[in-house]
Amino acid sequence: MSLTTADLDQPVEISNDIFWVGSGSKAFLSRNCYLRIFKGGGNVANMLIDPGPASDLDDLITKVTKVLGDITKVNLIFINHQDPDVVGNVPYLGKINPRLTVLASEDTWRLVSLNSPKVGFKAIERFKNLRISLNTQQYHRLQFIPTPFCHFRGACMLYDLESRILFTGDFMGGIAATGLEATEANWAGIKAFHQLYMPSNEAIRKAVQKIRELDPPPLMLAPQHGGIIQGALIDEFLSRMEELPVGLDIISSLEGKFSLLIASLNEIIGTFKEISDEQTARRVLAYFEPDGSYPALVAMSQDGTVTDIKGDPLEVVEALIKVFLRHVDAEQQNILKAKISRSLLEHNLPPFDLLLAQDDVASDILLEDL
Ligand SMILES: [Fe+2]
Ligand SMILES: [Fe+2]
Repeated sequence: MSLTTADLDQPVEISNDIFWVGSGSKAFLSRNCYLRIFKGGGNVANMLIDPGPASDLDDLITKVTKVLGDITKVNLIFINHQDPDVVGNVPYLGKINPRLTVLASEDTWRLVSLNSPKVGFKAIERFKNLRISLNTQQYHRLQFIPTPFCHFRGACMLYDLESRILFTGDFMGGIAATGLEATEANWAGIKAFHQLYMPSNEAIRKAVQKIRELDPPPLMLAPQHGGIIQGALIDEFLSRMEELPVGLDIISSLEGKFSLLIASLNEIIGTFKEISDEQTARRVLAYFEPDGSYPALVAMSQDGTVTDIKGDPLEVVEALIKVFLRHVDAEQQNILKAKISRSLLEHNLPPFDLLLAQDDVASDILLEDL
């Protein structure tokens, strides 16, 4: 089945005995969950990889039931890290199958177990060379690849050596994806997601290095958000990732150097002036005046161009964006959000939380404009 044309309301077989059973494929931040079936020698293991948040449970049950006939047949779970969008369904799955075993790093499980105290667990650190062979077929082998601080201390990828699919968790994930297959158009969303969630380029480089060392090399990178990356895009996106400043890199680089933010802010103000009515624009821009009701966070020239930002530059710009969004209607908000996203990306600036927080943002508008 082609990933491009797959019906995402159904489970999608992405490789032999491996199904996408995720949710939110039309949302800004989709959640990819995968079901891997191992069978042979009278044994069977049905493994969910990153089973997703509790809000996706109905969808998960529906999709898994279509493949297995019954979700209680899930007896193995792998989790990349402890975030709620990854592990929310673990307590439920443990309850319906008391023989369930979770595989994760010890750092991850220390936190997840607080909400799933009775669920069985095996630490990946216990397996020799971080590899396991299943008792189904001799070619059913899994390799665990820790990716420290991408983005959690105990984050770990899972490599299925038979299918050569690498389940990467948040790493290589992206926002605003359409469809299951990543294309060049996905890069903007991958970049934005990493700039927000990954702590440093150094952590990313170490993860990329580990992917490059895999033998045999992976045929697919299957992240927990966004599109599945295949073919030439694997190497292309990994190369871009190695050069991508994220998290602390950006914050550190902005210290004492605001020119990019100022340029971006001026573009955003320009769009705000265009889309709001004259009276609103005048009223809101009055906030910038030193004696206005909004603190004098920026300095403006006579012609209304921002020339300096005071205080924490990221916080100032975020606060100003929020003010603008509050003063326009829903349709104008979407135009402004698209402009903000594009401007921040073009200037290599981090996307702000509020953009990700809007699950109902028309992602097609963003995609059109990015
Ligand atoms: Fe996460
Ligand atoms: Fe995630």
